[in-house]
Amino acid sequence: MTTEETTRTVPTPTTVGGPGSPGFIADPYGYYAALQRQGPTHFVPDRGLWWLVSHAAVSMALHDKRFAKRPLALADRMGTSGGPDGGAAEPRTVEGALGLPQLPPSMLFLDPPEHTRLRSLVNQAFTPRMVERLRPRIAAIAQELLDAMAGQDAVDLVAAYAFPLPAIVIAELLGVPAEDRTQFRAWSDDIALSLDSTQPNEVRSRGETAARALAVYFAGLLAERRGAPREDLLSSLLAVEEAGDRLGPADLLSMCILLLVAGHETTKNLIANGVLSLLRHPDQLAALRADPTLYPTAVEELLRFESPVQRTARITHSDVQIGQAVIPAGSLVLTVIGAANRDPAVFPEPDRLDITRQDNPHLAFGRGIHFCLGAPLARLEGHVALEALLRRFPRLELPDTGAPDWTANTVIRGLRTLTVSTGAT
Ligand code: HEM
Repeated sequence: MTTEETTRTVPTPTTVGGPGSPGFIADPYGYYAALQRQGPTHFVPDRGLWWLVSHAAVSMALHDKRFAKRPLALADRMGTSGGPDGGAAEPRTVEGALGLPQLPPSMLFLDPPEHTRLRSLVNQAFTPRMVERLRPRIAAIAQELLDAMAGQDAVDLVAAYAFPLPAIVIAELLGVPAEDRTQFRAWSDDIALSLDSTQPNEVRSRGETAARALAVYFAGLLAERRGAPREDLLSSLLAVEEAGDRLGPADLLSMCILLLVAGHETTKNLIANGVLSLLRHPDQLAALRADPTLYPTAVEELLRFESPVQRTARITHSDVQIGQAVIPAGSLVLTVIGAANRDPAVFPEPDRLDITRQDNPHLAFGRGIHFCLGAPLARLEGHVALEALLRRFPRLELPDTGAPDWTANTVIRGLRTLTVSTGAT
């Protein structure tokens, strides 16, 4: 089948409400469902790319060798192009937003064998067993942040809790000194904001400046650790670098930046999106408060329900047939995790938040060789953060302040702010 025939056999949806429209930001799921009803694959002729929206297709693409990372162009790496409705493109990428094209791609953007080599160097630090050792420290950070909210009724939970908690955890894990945290947080804020495509250019260039500053900062920190190693991940990675040819200095810098950015932006959204989902479903919140053994399944359901990473991208290395469609070799394919996680073929009543859902094969952390390295850490942080918050504030609720303040980023789904009433006064 030729590409042209494929284009004819795959319906191009005319649905309104796709990426680029304000309705999509508030609720992308109606649009995803409309696409799913028409089929698992959608070709977007004017952009020459494909959207995969069924759980089966996304899951297959994420672990099938025919779907690779290279040579994803910088602007396509996180799957940032517009949707089948011709919605606005959103050319923000982790590295693009970081403004560091001169650095080698991190493992997130590599295929084997380079990917395997780099990933094996950090895998050990993120196993569930290693991560479990962080539990008491994560709990202590949560308590400190909750203490700082004491006495305030209206609190922006993103600024006060969801952002700082994972940022402090990953900074400490890497070995970013506590005294630099304020500066580091300011850079992170600027970078995170610059991922939001609706922000004016000056915000984007502030993000790029912050990213460059972060790279210079890491280079300095690595130089310091080289002379005086400590018990942190930076020192362990340096030891690997010095032991041989497995990790070059530029790879090392890319790795640090990837871990830092991937390590907190998404987890922030798990916490804030999760709190919002629970507050919008008081029956589920009450069930969780009544039975804390439900936290593990609740965290999985919150990851499924408002997935922090809504989509990622691959390039086909050979023709791939999915249903009626043949995706030609060399195509840019967007794997829409947010749609797969609401696929009714896999999740009964997919739009219902059910914190007791047992069979929950969500793809929020991806699948296959790029399956999120930080998944055990994110799960632990999500669990600890939610449990500590709900314990501290038994009367937490959403004030009547209108629609949630979602960022306009259609790839990383998160809230700019989340004002909650703690019931503390
Ligand atoms: C709720 C929080 C998180 C979510 C939803 C999430 C999601 C994801 C997804 C979907 C991928 C795969 C992307 C792809 O296949 O193209 C990924 C990869 C990755 N994540 Fe996470 N992540 C989270 C937290 C973390 C944390 C805490 C870390 C800390 C280190 C982390 C580090 C990474 C790294 C290094 C990769 C690349 C792995 C590879 O290419 O082999 N993530 N993440």
